Amino acid sequence: MITTVAIRGFRSLRELVLPLGRVTLVTGANGVGKSSLYRALGLLTGAAGGTLVGSLAQQGGLGSVLWAGPETISQAMRDGEVPVQGKARRVKPVSLGLGFVTDDIGYLVDVGLPTPSDTMFVHDPEIKREVIFGGQALRPATTLVRRKGPIVDARQDRWERVTSNLAPQLSMLSEIAEPSLYPELQAARQEVRSWRFYDAFRTDPASPARGLHVNTWTPVLAPDGSDLAAAVQTILESSFGEVLGRAVDEAFPRGRVMVESSGTRLELLFQQHGLLRPLASEELSDGTLRFLLLAAALLSPRPPRLLVLNEPETSLHPEMIPALTRLVADASRRTQVLVVSHSTALVAGLRDLLGDELEHHELLKDTGETLVAGQGVFDRPIWDWGSR
Ligand SMILES: Nc1ncnc2c1ncn2[C@@H]1O[C@H](COP(=O)(O)OP(=O)(O)OP(=O)(O)O)[C@@H](O)[C@H]1O
Ligand SMILES: [Mg+2]
Repeated sequence: MITTVAIRGFRSLRELVLPLGRVTLVTGANGVGKSSLYRALGLLTGAAGGTLVGSLAQQGGLGSVLWAGPETISQAMRDGEVPVQGKARRVKPVSLGLGFVTDDIGYLVDVGLPTPSDTMFVHDPEIKREVIFGGQALRPATTLVRRKGPIVDARQDRWERVTSNLAPQLSMLSEIAEPSLYPELQAARQEVRSWRFYDAFRTDPASPARGLHVNTWTPVLAPDGSDLAAAVQTILESSFGEVLGRAVDEAFPRGRVMVESSGTRLELLFQQHGLLRPLASEELSDGTLRFLLLAAALLSPRPPRLLVLNEPETSLHPEMIPALTRLVADASRRTQVLVVSHSTALVAGLRDLLGDELEHHELLKDTGETLVAGQGVFDRPIWDWGSR
């Protein structure tokens, strides 16, 4: 289980350390940094897939995503007694940090500004440092694998050099394989690689979720839902078929979802109470389609270790929220779930169903910085970024 995620210097997340539960619910007003949290976690999986630096470039480069406030915020600045100002000179290097801890291992990556060199890619940030540690906090004694610039060392009986020429754009998670030699690297890579993210499914008439889909076993719904029919059929043929049937019936009384095959293609059909023929996916309302997409994501027969949903309630009628809530609670028996939400009904429903198992964090903004409501220095999980 992932116990903590930590983000430093990413947009308004100046320094956020968030404990995670079996189900973690993140709420907060517009602009407090919920989607930024979602994106930061996406960047972490990017590290394991070798796309971290590329994804940062797509988000406007390090200059754009870095915390745009001062390096330190004094109480007088917070109280508005003095203007918010940076120091003439930074004390610490510019750094974007991302990390997590599970019951077994921790990982962090520290991304910084590039060193001048004769390349055209002068805006690409560099991975300056990566660490894998055992236990709950980074300390010299718990460090298992460490990367400084191009050099990676792993602790075996003593420290051993793994490589001395890792490219600054690439993570040691994506580049060093040999699982038998470096099980900690393998464990960290497998952990983040399995995280799955779903955000704002398109449901417009040209949405990839509508229409025909390739007829192939699909245990994992694509992020854009472009294989929904195949994913639904895979669920219907699995042990989760019944749960899907019940969820659809709860959201749309006496409704039923079906899949029809036309050779190499599959079509999603939806039998709605009162109609003589089932509706094709082009005919479904946005909310119906979104509910089916979310159900397919939550009932994946190959659950990830962490499933992250950004505002799943968007365009769903409040009457559908109880069915969605039950699906989230059901999924949490197989996978850890993090939900970013505005829906008070979802919050209340999850609290009812999960009680203490629900970890609810309300985010707020103070002087431009995202903070966790009620989180004091002592409630914060222990987290140390180490130094370059
Ligand atoms: N580089 C940056 N440094 C500091 N703050 C930033 C930076 N970039 C964006 N922000 C802040 O982050 C906010 C956007 O955060 P985000 O999109 O995560 O909000 P949200 O909680 O998801 O809101 P909503 O509920 O509207 O979706 C912006 O309004 C801006 O205040
Ligand atoms: Mg948002």
